[in-house]
Amino acid sequence: GKTASLRASVTSRIVPKAKSGAQISPQASYKVAVLGAAGGIGQPLGLLIKMSPLVSELRLYDIANVKGVAADLSHCNTPSQVMDFTGPTELANCLKGVDVVVIPAGVPRKPGMTRDDLFNINAGIVKSLIEAVADNCPEALIHIISNPVNSTVPIAAEILKQKGVYNPKKLFGVSTLDVVRANTFVAQKKNLSLIDVDVPVVGGHAGITILPLLSKTNPSVTFTDEETEQLTKRIQNAGTEVVEAKAGAGSATLSMAYAAARFVESSLRALAGDPDVYECTYVQSELTELPFFASRVKLGKDGVESIISSDLEGVTEYETKALEALKAELNASIEKGIEFAHKQQ
Ligand code: NAI
Repeated sequence: GKTASLRASVTSRIVPKAKSGAQISPQASYKVAVLGAAGGIGQPLGLLIKMSPLVSELRLYDIANVKGVAADLSHCNTPSQVMDFTGPTELANCLKGVDVVVIPAGVPRKPGMTRDDLFNINAGIVKSLIEAVADNCPEALIHIISNPVNSTVPIAAEILKQKGVYNPKKLFGVSTLDVVRANTFVAQKKNLSLIDVDVPVVGGHAGITILPLLSKTNPSVTFTDEETEQLTKRIQNAGTEVVEAKAGAGSATLSMAYAAARFVESSLRALAGDPDVYECTYVQSELTELPFFASRVKLGKDGVESIISSDLEGVTEYETKALEALKAELNASIEKGIEFAHKQQ
């Protein structure tokens, strides 16, 4: 009826429409868990996922304050049932049978901090949550938001390996916000309609490891060297722009929730059989010599269906240099994550 189409149109604003106009099963319904659901990202992310017509159960987990968030969201008259789980004793029940686990648990940056400064606290949080994921829903798609993503994803991979359940096609670092920001800034600069602009962002999710491939912007746009330099820097520092504006109250939460909801919706559409779903994400990859790398991937029923290598072909000299320059930092972050996971064994 009318409300169903309103709901569908609201959600379809989050995810760009499938270009093929492909239909997905009208019965598609999935269970999604958010770990860290009472936080700055978790709350608006819960709201956006509650709006999805593809979700039947929304399971909210946090170490505190999640009951009120769940009670509040449960009054929205959208199809999904909202359930709350508080503390480690309820984590297993939260995870059993879920299709997608989204992890925004952990501390955010304050002014002057890099994402790597969060490592000591967030590495342990991600480790313990991934252990529970491995034990209770090893088949689920895992979306990691907790920073530093460049390290927390390799940590998760090692923990899943230790538990014997690692599937590289189902472990994702959420770098969607970098794409969302790149799309916004390029559209503003070039006076383009926002909905049409798509910039692939590759590498990782911190500082210079964030590499927007402006030369691969769709629709095709040309930039002066100055514009390229300025836009690249702005996209790389956009998170810090928000951290400074919030002046101690945290980092991006609303735009992050928007980006994470888009990535969840894309994943669910892919699970439901849409054959035309592409997103940039930080995954195990053979695109470069680094074991993890963010790039566009095609999503399918089993997670990553293929990694799109063509984006790295025929890039500009500026982009080639930036790609070489980011490898040392990204590699160090990956190794730091792996080392942490091994030390904890
Ligand atoms: P927040 O502090 O507002 O919320 C974090 C939530 O995690 C809190 O509710 C807290 O109780 C919960 N939490 C802490 N330990 C937990 C545990 N062991 N199990 C379950 N929940 C736990 O922080 P915010 O702003 O929501 O940010 C969360 C994370 O997301 C940070 O690490 C931040 O750096 C990262 N982030 C990532 C971005 C990306 O693009 N990937 C962008 C913005 C933030």
